[in-house]
Amino acid sequence: MPDPTPRPENFEELRFRPSEPKIATTAELKRTRLGRYAEIGARVILREVEVGDFSYFERGGEATYTVIGKFCSIAANVRINALAHPTDRLTTHKISYRPNEYFRWLSVDQSVGEKRRAQSVRIGNDVWIGHGAVVMPGVSVGDGAVIGGGAVVTRDVPPFTIVAGVPAKPIRARFSSPIADRIAALCWWDWPLETLFDAVPDMQALPIEAFLDKWDAQSPFPSASAK
Ligand SMILES: CC(C)(COP(=O)(O)OP(=O)(O)OC[C@H]1O[C@@H](n2cnc3c(N)ncnc32)[C@H](O)[C@@H]1OP(=O)(O)O)[C@@H](O)C(=O)NCCC(=O)NCCS
Repeated sequence: MPDPTPRPENFEELRFRPSEPKIATTAELKRTRLGRYAEIGARVILREVEVGDFSYFERGGEATYTVIGKFCSIAANVRINALAHPTDRLTTHKISYRPNEYFRWLSVDQSVGEKRRAQSVRIGNDVWIGHGAVVMPGVSVGDGAVIGGGAVVTRDVPPFTIVAGVPAKPIRARFSSPIADRIAALCWWDWPLETLFDAVPDMQALPIEAFLDKWDAQSPFPSASAK
């Protein structure tokens, strides 16, 4: 006897919600690339930024010349790459490098823009940046790191390290280094949607070591977990 409620042909696909990025109407994006499921909140301003899959900015954030990995959670009012004004000139004011805004015959001083562009920021995968944090030019934040609310990050942040304060200093590691190494090798942030769908219940239920024991074996990247 045929199944009385046949499943639609695309039943397997129905578990995935649409993956188009969501951009608030008040956000301003210039020369920015957004990955699948990325979300850009109200009044966020992004200039020359790459935002990886699943990463999101809450309201009021700002980033310039930045590459952001996948699965990053960026709280409200975070500033990534707080650009420098020249401090060695007569004035730090833009009259010296954007005189065109005030005078007709004088043009933008490109050297300031070039210096800023050369100091881009890199944020890894699965980085959580707390409310109102500021990340300074040229900083790299490792995979799995956490930046506390209100921090000013002036130095690179190692993977899986929690930093806080002004200037930001490590307060603790998220995991012991063997566990952190196993998570890094798993590269779960590159898993296909099907694998993530299956893994979520285990993320909720299993302690991290049990999760790794199970998913090291099931990872779609066996070579990565063998690293
Ligand atoms: C950084 C953070 C994750 C650390 O959490 P935690 O590991 O539970 O840390 P604890 O609360 O045990 O604090 C450990 C120490 O760090 C200090 N500390 C914690 N967060 C701090 C911060 N943001 N800035 C400065 N110091 C901080 C604590 O005062 C404590 O210091 P002590 O040992 O001298 O008492 C958390 O405090 C934080 O800032 N979260 C961000 C929250 C947020 O912005 N949410 C927005 C929505 S996404």
